[in-house]
Amino acid sequence: MKKLGVAVIGTGFWGKNHARVYKELESTELVAICDRDAARAKAVASQFGAKAYTNTSWLLKDADVEAVSVCTWSTSLAKEASKALRAGKHVLVEKPMATTAKQAERLVITARENGLHFTVGFLMRFIPGLRNIKDSVEIKSIGELVCATAKRVSQWPERIGDVGVVKDTAIHDIDVMRFVFGKEPVSVYAQCGSMKHRKFEDYAMIMLSFADGRSAFIESNWLTPYKTRTLTVTGSDAIMRLDYITQELWIEAANQNVQPKFPWQEPLKAELQHFADCVLNKEKPIVTGEDGLKALRIAVAALESSAKHKAVKLQ
Ligand SMILES: NC(=O)c1ccc[n+]([C@@H]2O[C@H](COP(=O)([O-])OP(=O)(O)OC[C@H]3O[C@@H](n4cnc5c(N)ncnc54)[C@H](O)[C@@H]3O)[C@@H](O)[C@H]2O)c1
Repeated sequence: MKKLGVAVIGTGFWGKNHARVYKELESTELVAICDRDAARAKAVASQFGAKAYTNTSWLLKDADVEAVSVCTWSTSLAKEASKALRAGKHVLVEKPMATTAKQAERLVITARENGLHFTVGFLMRFIPGLRNIKDSVEIKSIGELVCATAKRVSQWPERIGDVGVVKDTAIHDIDVMRFVFGKEPVSVYAQCGSMKHRKFEDYAMIMLSFADGRSAFIESNWLTPYKTRTLTVTGSDAIMRLDYITQELWIEAANQNVQPKFPWQEPLKAELQHFADCVLNKEKPIVTGEDGLKALRIAVAALESSAKHKAVKLQ
């Protein structure tokens, strides 16, 4: 079986997991890793038996590298993803993909013009319970979709210092809401603020409105002393509740409660397997560059709404 030659750019907390998973997958060959921190690059490369680079320009000249995961700081994702695409590599870029919509648009265009696979690290899409919620909404087994509420709160991971909680954290739920509702919100209203973070917002309450009067609410912060990651979807006949951490799903109707069981699976493994399969079999990814761009546009509009104290219309 042909293995896909892959590399990971940025091997901090999260990129190291990408390297481990690529090493574990049968369809990928972890060729190299790159981190600007030379000691980290050396340590991660030797742990996973890959070549170490400290500069992406050198890594991208490596002909054995066909695809890369870009897991650098959020403010350097777009630059590194762009370099990789221009070097002819297929790219999985971590969320938030870029810090401005303009940068994200350019990435989508570069990938398209070069005929390359391009996807964004919206990990929640690879949790089976979310897939089940999406299917239930589509076949209306919970009746008509009414609203959805997401909660993603925990303490501030202090290594994240270059973007706030909206682009770093709430963006997952913005993508989830687009996915579950199957359409684009028409406006966003948000209230964000900072309690502990000096530079960026560390809490956000975001409301997305859809054209048919339905709405989604996202609570996100870096202040809660414990970690919660949940989604509640209300239908006219039943409610679905998902815990992203345990991957447990509950369906609650007026006269019965059901808890469908799915074997727990590591979302990152499913995500990177899917990325490799898409590249090898030339298939469209579940999460496209356009999905990343649209979610980022909404995140930017949420910040604008909070700054202006009014709802912002979305195109
Ligand atoms: N999808 C998810 O669920 C998820 C989870 C965690 C983090 N992330 C994303 O992954 C990215 C990394 O987060 P992290 O927590 O690992 O941060 P981190 O600070 O632990 O790691 C970032 C690493 O990138 C390296 N780096 C930065 N710029 C570089 C460059 N130009 N070239 C080479 N190396 C570079 C740094 O030296 C560091 O080792 C962020 O964009 C974050 O949003 C996604």
